[in-house]
Amino acid sequence: MHTSETLDTFVHREGKTLMKLDVKPNETRVGPAIKGESLVFYNPAMNRSRTRSVLLMQYAIENNLLGNGEIYALDGLSATGLRARRWLNELPPESSKRINATIIDMDPEALKLALRNHEEFPPNNKGGKLKTIRGDLRASILEQGWHWVDIDPYGSPVPFIDTAIQSIARRGVLEVSATDTAALTGSSKNALLRRYGARVRNDGLAHDSALRVLLANVARSAARHERSIEPLMSVWDSHHLRVSVRVIRSIENANRVEESIGWRIYSPTIEEVKASIKIGLQPDTSLEILPMDCFLPLSHPIERNDKRISGPLWIGKMGKKDVLAFMTEERAIEMCAPIDCKDDYLGWSEKDFEYERRRIVKSVKNLSDEANGIETPHHILVDYLSSWLEIGSPPSPKKLVDLLRNNGYAAGLANYGKKPSIRTDAPWDVIIKLALEVHPPI
Ligand SMILES: C[S@@+](CC[C@H](N)C(=O)[O-])C[C@H]1O[C@@H](n2cnc3c(N)ncnc32)[C@H](O)[C@@H]1O
Repeated sequence: MHTSETLDTFVHREGKTLMKLDVKPNETRVGPAIKGESLVFYNPAMNRSRTRSVLLMQYAIENNLLGNGEIYALDGLSATGLRARRWLNELPPESSKRINATIIDMDPEALKLALRNHEEFPPNNKGGKLKTIRGDLRASILEQGWHWVDIDPYGSPVPFIDTAIQSIARRGVLEVSATDTAALTGSSKNALLRRYGARVRNDGLAHDSALRVLLANVARSAARHERSIEPLMSVWDSHHLRVSVRVIRSIENANRVEESIGWRIYSPTIEEVKASIKIGLQPDTSLEILPMDCFLPLSHPIERNDKRISGPLWIGKMGKKDVLAFMTEERAIEMCAPIDCKDDYLGWSEKDFEYERRRIVKSVKNLSDEANGIETPHHILVDYLSSWLEIGSPPSPKKLVDLLRNNGYAAGLANYGKKPSIRTDAPWDVIIKLALEVHPPI
């Protein structure tokens, strides 16, 4: 067990950061923690999301996305405040000393706990600041401008997106989590239509479509406030979805928002594939075997009750190559893994440290490989591909990626829940040819 008991509280470590909690966290639960289970909400299953958040902030700082001065960073629905405390504790000193972090929560117990933990376990390098605001995020967030805003609600982020966008300085980064995955993936159709104005075909790509529906909603909100977005990273991880985008004030780009929004069509007709190629949403291909799905622009006439169609959703890139390339296992360990030492506060054994290192590594699984495919149009589930081609067992994703790269195409393994999949810019007929080379028909 990775938590130790002291005076009726538990000291818990996530990444390099320690905190006291009133209840021992349930490390085995995959889904969301149960509200009211402990005084303040803490979900260990979100540890990977918090690790990626630390890495993304460092990327943004190194690549000058947040300016050169003090960084006003908001952990918007903070609960224990662990996310902000991890920024302060795990970023390298030259970055963390620039962070002026604020945590907002309507629960006074959450803020008290965060401050107690901040005092008892201050950031290693003593840099950076942590401030609390008690109140409803939708009101408090507009009190000043932010370079970084994190929204991690119970369920849907919809109530918070509009004010979060308005609160971002001339340029900044917005990270949004959603745990209403049943709605976003099309299992709860009414909730999806009500909250996000979309429909999603509930198939293997439903989580990819869900991320795209969320991106389209963030982009629409940004456009309403004369801003545009650039997706940096979009991740489906167990029970939650999360998009991280750069927000830039620009009326000109905001005017073009509909260029990045459209439809995903499952089992498209020849005409639909031709239309997709014509507008540059996928490379030219022979149409002997049609693709499993394709994107079409918003202007394409569609039948809204057609069960093959998902959208409106984001049809642009879901992430940025350089960002994903930054998310290496080595960097994650260096920045976020606790350092094995004899007089460890929790008395951890070598095995405990190794366990935590493995958790940290899992946070970035495949991401640096996916960098090679993230800016490409095809996301292919290998299980689906084998059924489509009637070739029995699916081709090895790794072999398929290697073959595509050897043939000069961009390709990468995807970080997509637990479903093995790849991304590539190869034309569909080339993908088919190479998949059949890896795995000839039986
Ligand atoms: C899912 S938890 C946040 C988890 C946290 N971000 C983390 O990484 O552990 C949601 C938090 O939002 C708070 N909350 C819910 N609605 C709010 C609102 N309108 N304004 C401010 N806080 C709110 C709750 O008290 C709760 O602590």
